[in-house]
Amino acid sequence: MKLKLINYLVCPKCKVPLQCQIFQQDSELPWEEILQGCLICQTCSREYPILKGIPRMLLNPPPAEVQNTVAGFGWEWLAFDKQIQNTYMTDKVHMLDFIHPTGEGFFKDKLVLDAGCGMGRFLKLGAEFGSKEIIGIDLSNSVEAAYQNTRHLENAHVVQADIFALPFPRVFDYIFSIGVLHHLDKPKKGFSQLVELLNKDGRISVWVYSKENNQWVISLTPIRKRITSHLPKPVLLGISHFLGFFLYLLLQVVYKPANETRLGLKVRRYLPYNEYLYYSSRLSYLSLVSVIFDHLVPQLAAYISRDELESWFKEENLASVVITPRNNMSWRGQGTCI
Ligand SMILES: C[S@@+](CC[C@H](N)C(=O)[O-])C[C@H]1O[C@@H](n2cnc3c(N)ncnc32)[C@H](O)[C@@H]1O
Ligand SMILES: [Zn+2]
Repeated sequence: MKLKLINYLVCPKCKVPLQCQIFQQDSELPWEEILQGCLICQTCSREYPILKGIPRMLLNPPPAEVQNTVAGFGWEWLAFDKQIQNTYMTDKVHMLDFIHPTGEGFFKDKLVLDAGCGMGRFLKLGAEFGSKEIIGIDLSNSVEAAYQNTRHLENAHVVQADIFALPFPRVFDYIFSIGVLHHLDKPKKGFSQLVELLNKDGRISVWVYSKENNQWVISLTPIRKRITSHLPKPVLLGISHFLGFFLYLLLQVVYKPANETRLGLKVRRYLPYNEYLYYSSRLSYLSLVSVIFDHLVPQLAAYISRDELESWFKEENLASVVITPRNNMSWRGQGTCI
């Protein structure tokens, strides 16, 4: 934890600034990097430990299905961390596709929050885009991968925290949350919690699974909820490799040529889920396995209609709202706080 992060942190319960005790620092970095320490709230006397360089700003343990969901993601991000580095999954084009129409230049000199940062792939890019400071939060232990991936960047910070009890005052110029809100037990409430942290003129971008065009995935919900989300993670990884092998073949042999050759023009329109599966054909084999794992592991996953997403922005009185489809199976929403 960089010492300057203390300027933005508050007690998630009382929302007051914290006192910092330092037990161990990393002397190799050119700034004050706290490896072990403690943040203390003078109002409620709660102590939040700083462990392995990360402030752990957690209040009460979350409900069982939330714990199951974030434990699955924690496992996923630690397992796939190295395997998806330097692939399309960590590429800026990929990130900008999720937060469209926000561009890279928007980050410059802004105070930014990546809500549900996973292993920190977009946190790192946001820091490289020139954010004044960018803070990534996640409830799972994926924060340890996020910290390792960004600790060398002077403007990047990682905090373990719950979207429903965030340790920040209203300070952010930009908040993005990619693939997170649909994994909350109360997605709309999670969205409101984020909007509460936006400055006047602050912007929020979210990406969520759509209810539209996902009927077959939605029909598999009972299998995910009752079976796959409870399997031991190495078993689920094996299943993801098994499915990934056949899907990868299908994508390379059918979807890629159908979309990239003249001959394919005629076939393309008959292919189901062509937009999404053509996008998937650009992923490496291991990235594809990680995407399959990502769909099988969470106990909690909601599918959100365009109308519902639009109502979130309306109810928060956000202006300049832009909602666009992504790959015909998800929604991107953006709005500004007035
Ligand atoms: C599909 S992952 C997306 C991670 C990242 N945004 C990315 O695209 O690489 C969803 C993330 O949301 C996190 N998450 C789920 N519930 C959360 C909560 N209540 N508070 C904070 N993070 C949460 C999970 O731990 C997981 O890392
Ligand atoms: Zn407190």
